[in-house]
Amino acid sequence: MTNPTDAPAPVTVIGLGLMGRALAAAFLANGHPTTVWNRTPDKAGELLARGAARTGSVEEAVRASPLVVVCVSDYHAVRELLDLPAGTFADRVVVNLTTGTSAQARETAAWAAQRGLAYVEGVIMAIPPDIATERAVLLYSGPEEAYRAHEATLRNLGPAGTVYLDADHGLSPLYDMSLLGIMWGILNSFLHGAALLGTAGVPATVFAPLAETMINVAAGYVTAYAPQIDAGEYPAEDATLAVHQGGLRHLAEESEALGVNAELPHFYRELVDLAIAAGHAGSGYAALIEQFRRPAA
Ligand SMILES: NC(=O)c1ccc[n+]([C@@H]2O[C@H](COP(=O)([O-])OP(=O)(O)OC[C@H]3O[C@@H](n4cnc5c(N)ncnc54)[C@H](OP(=O)(O)O)[C@@H]3O)[C@@H](O)[C@H]2O)c1
Repeated sequence: MTNPTDAPAPVTVIGLGLMGRALAAAFLANGHPTTVWNRTPDKAGELLARGAARTGSVEEAVRASPLVVVCVSDYHAVRELLDLPAGTFADRVVVNLTTGTSAQARETAAWAAQRGLAYVEGVIMAIPPDIATERAVLLYSGPEEAYRAHEATLRNLGPAGTVYLDADHGLSPLYDMSLLGIMWGILNSFLHGAALLGTAGVPATVFAPLAETMINVAAGYVTAYAPQIDAGEYPAEDATLAVHQGGLRHLAEESEALGVNAELPHFYRELVDLAIAAGHAGSGYAALIEQFRRPAA
């Protein structure tokens, strides 16, 4: 277990793309002896100037530190890189911060277990400039003991937002996908709204502050609906699905009349139609969870 009063522990970073370089820079800035390896060696340049050590092979990089952080494009590359001789990973913990699905994470964990490799899965809910700031959120899953042994070092990447979730390797990627889905939902709705208002000459910059207010209001609905979803009961404490259905029809009609893409409002309306057909006209919006829990018809 790392003691916070100990000297910063050595760490290896494999993969020096935009994100990998930000990770390595954060470790270096916090005094960790940092070894790096990248397929294209040139990308290590600035990190070497800041004190990083570069190795000529992945194997040497793994042997250099007890904690090995991997951040490359995909899981195919992760497995290719970690396919090393038996014994290379003795007393090492590999933390994979490459984005993928929960199935890929679980498969890679099983693959790692066959090689005796202590493997922790992680996801980064941040862009490279936010690494090591209060805005960075990083979620981890996998063997807790392996994670805890290096938690203090990993905390450098997200001082306020480093969270251990569960022993199931698949859980952190599943959170990643669920949270990214929220981001895309908000962004697409904002862009749709900006397109609607654009037809009346309203600049997006004028729309933005009100859009932000609406996003914050909707964040309150999330808190209110979560216990309803868990309980499987959706009392209409604010508005019924029948009322939402009317509003969504207007949104679709407005979009079509103005020549704006109407697929989003039609998709939302269709979900509400299905929920109402299933007997939820008098329920609240959270009743739509039943539509999301099954594949589209
Ligand atoms: N950038 C972000 O905002 C962000 C945010 C959250 C999560 N992530 C995740 O972080 C990971 C890296 O993203 P990035 O932005 O750093 O991407 P990137 O700038 O495109 O870098 C990709 C890295 O993967 C390496 N790589 C790809 N295929 C390889 C292979 N077959 N063998 C060895 N190395 C290989 C590249 O090496 P070369 O330099 O030799 O090409 C490079 O180091 C991705 O999984 C991404 O989803 C990124």
